[in-house]
Amino acid sequence: MSKFAIEVEGLRKTFGKHTVLDGIDFTVPAGTVYAMLGPNGAGKTTLIHILSTLVAPDEGSVRVAGYDVVTEKHDVKRSISLTGQFAAVDEVLTASENLRMIGRLCGLTAAQSRARTDTLLAHFDLKEVADKRVKTYSGGMRRRLDLAISLAATRPVLFLDEPTTGLDTISRRALWDIILQLKEQGITIFLTTQYLEEADQLADLIAVIADGHIVATGTAEELKARVGGEVIELRNAQDELIQTIPTTGSISDVRRTLNELSSKVSQEARVSIRKPSMDDVFLALTTKKLEGAAVL
Ligand SMILES: Nc1ncnc2c1ncn2[C@@H]1O[C@H](COP(=O)(O)OP(=O)(O)OP(=O)(O)O)[C@@H](O)[C@H]1O
Ligand SMILES: [Mg+2]
Repeated sequence: MSKFAIEVEGLRKTFGKHTVLDGIDFTVPAGTVYAMLGPNGAGKTTLIHILSTLVAPDEGSVRVAGYDVVTEKHDVKRSISLTGQFAAVDEVLTASENLRMIGRLCGLTAAQSRARTDTLLAHFDLKEVADKRVKTYSGGMRRRLDLAISLAATRPVLFLDEPTTGLDTISRRALWDIILQLKEQGITIFLTTQYLEEADQLADLIAVIADGHIVATGTAEELKARVGGEVIELRNAQDELIQTIPTTGSISDVRRTLNELSSKVSQEARVSIRKPSMDDVFLALTTKKLEGAAVL
């Protein structure tokens, strides 16, 4: 594979009159985790579908694992796995049986497939129900099995579309661990998420998509730095957040802000100053009001 696991240039996709992707360019270095952040309807799923050959691009060049998604579709398919790819889990089989079957289908030996199955069952907290038929599972258990199945065979590029939506905290952290382990093995992971903390924790690079364009790309630190300055947080005596105020971080600006506030809030209020969080970044980059400034 080339230096880049994913190379996208001038990608456009329109549904009817609605242009969802309006000229997207980005590259994902091989062996990294890349997170695509964007509000509902921004086109994240459409992008993942194009990258995984399920939807054809209208314009532009899209290469995954070195292959063109239009002219070398089959090579792309052999190089990727996708959450939900095997969503049709066999209801009559158990979790164990499903996982071992997929492992074998994807070319693992029986022993490798058994070992991988045990690891995944443990990671996703499915050990206790491993030998029960899938049709008896709860929604959350199915979702976890779905993810485990998409990880049963390791391919060079893994796509995860909002992988932790609907998972409880323990399963979410387990999935984060697995993602980082896969990265250690040299696998490239492209994920979409609505959890800014997730992008912050996992991704080497983050792209923010809004209105059909990538409005910012960088490491979590770079994106935070682009929003600039500091954020003043005001908390009450019970340590509940009352207000968040952006500031340049200069003494004069902090002093002016506090002076303005002191007439309005209780003198018991506590003040802290912190770097902007991913939430602050996300809001700043995706709200219309700040679009001018978002040429950040
Ligand atoms: N097959 C389709 N036909 C028509 N419109 C579509 C189709 N697929 C997606 N769209 C539209 O494209 C836009 C982007 O949808 P997409 O599902 O890619 O967004 P998303 O970023 O994944 O959103 P979410 O965060 O809600 O998952 C939406 O307005 C959606 O209605
Ligand atoms: Mg989506």
